[in-house]
Amino acid sequence: MLSKENFEKLERLKSQYPTTKSLSLPVLWMIQEQHGWISPESMQYVADLLQLPVSHVYGVVTFYTMFNTKPVGKYHLQVCTNVSCLLRGGEELLDHICKRLHVKRGEITLDQRFTVTEVECLGSCGTAPMLQANDEYYENLSTEKVERLLDEWSKG
Ligand code: FES
Repeated sequence: MLSKENFEKLERLKSQYPTTKSLSLPVLWMIQEQHGWISPESMQYVADLLQLPVSHVYGVVTFYTMFNTKPVGKYHLQVCTNVSCLLRGGEELLDHICKRLHVKRGEITLDQRFTVTEVECLGSCGTAPMLQANDEYYENLSTEKVERLLDEWSKG
């Protein structure tokens, strides 16, 4: 399941981490980078690879919201609706995106291009409202800005 490159990376990391348990996070991150999400089979794979109980791996995956436990679209839009974003229209922005893409919160579009997720604070409160699309932050958003972004992402 780990690519050759990531397997080699894991070998290098082993000397930097005190226990195999502490390697759970980087290994799970590598799996998600490769596959976009972490399936039950991947959890079992990581458990076997690191010789840990699968319950431990499951606990890590479900504790950290950065891990996807189901497949996500090409563009995973994580829209913050925590206090600062909420006060500056984050909730309306999320509703707008869902309406435009014909999905409910947490769903993937039929063409599998977009997943829209409501998330807690992403640490960018000063530039609210904001969303994260894959690894990028988009800040000081308005409906118009989001429309332009969705137009762009719908093409590429
Ligand atoms: S409240 Fe939205 S980034 Fe902090």
